[in-house]
Amino acid sequence: MRKYYPKQLVKPLVCLKDKQGLIIGNLEKAADDGITEGELVCPVCHSRYPIRQGILDFSNQQNELPEEMRIEVAARDQAAGGYDKKLASRYYREIPSTLKALGDFRGQRIIEYGCGTGRLTAELAGAEQFLAIDFSRASLLKLQEKISGPAALGAALGDIVQFKTAPDYFDLALSAQVIEHIPDAAKRREFFENVRETLKSGGKFVCTAYHYDYRRRRAGQPQEGFHPSGIFYHYFTGKELKQELSAVFPSVKIKLIDISWPLVWRLGLPARFEGSLSRLAERLPGIRQLGHLVLAEVRKR
Ligand SMILES: C[S@@+](CC[C@H](N)C(=O)[O-])C[C@H]1O[C@@H](n2cnc3c(N)ncnc32)[C@H](O)[C@@H]1O
Ligand SMILES: [Zn+2]
Repeated sequence: MRKYYPKQLVKPLVCLKDKQGLIIGNLEKAADDGITEGELVCPVCHSRYPIRQGILDFSNQQNELPEEMRIEVAARDQAAGGYDKKLASRYYREIPSTLKALGDFRGQRIIEYGCGTGRLTAELAGAEQFLAIDFSRASLLKLQEKISGPAALGAALGDIVQFKTAPDYFDLALSAQVIEHIPDAAKRREFFENVRETLKSGGKFVCTAYHYDYRRRRAGQPQEGFHPSGIFYHYFTGKELKQELSAVFPSVKIKLIDISWPLVWRLGLPARFEGSLSRLAERLPGIRQLGHLVLAEVRKR
């Protein structure tokens, strides 16, 4: 369990109002390397960013969220306890392919947007620095439970559309199943621009999102709507995601992942084996249209 914000990870942080680098302000509970209770401040406009239970909070300096997002924050906070269990059955079809796209992360600086309860974050211990952002405090508290050891992992509470970090700082950026919940293309573009700005030249962004797959299209299910929890969703075609990302990044590769073969679930195969079948299907043009997720591997020049 890790409940502090590492001092090492103050360097990439900037004020939301004027993009000035933040500095350490009053500290109530801190060690040499991390802050549990205290605040960061902007040396220019004096905006204050509190740290509570080791979570750095940007929410009081951001603009008010639109209603769809406020509903999502409440729904995510409420569901944080059971989230990992709910997604466990997809693990082998989703996580190895996502990590493979990210490549070697050891010794790298990583930023993860919409980290949630840390399903992927926990896999990436070994990064040199790791900044994880989400707008659900309850999810970040769950993430902290998974973190131990000396890794420089900082958890920040805020909206990834408004959240900015220092330019040319991170080697890798990740957002897994997040952008389908950003309610319009203009906001997604703002988010992508934040990612481009903070990546080093040659840095990589891996982004997964719901895929508007063959089963869904054939059943005439809508591409956009609201889950019973009230959370907004948009299912992307590969072409659509490529178009949105290409407006901001020069190089975008699209793949379909998390593929369940027709009727295979009836065989009750071990999840690991289903994962291997899914990765085989990623290479087969017809069957991969059944992929539940679209994955984009994006480079900043
Ligand atoms: C489907 S969950 C995925 C969580 C995690 N990436 C994973 O794969 O397990 C989406 C996460 O994105 C967060 N999220 C959605 N929109 C966000 C926004 N605008 N700013 C910050 N977090 C956001 C939600 O709170 C939630 O934790
Ligand atoms: Zn400022």
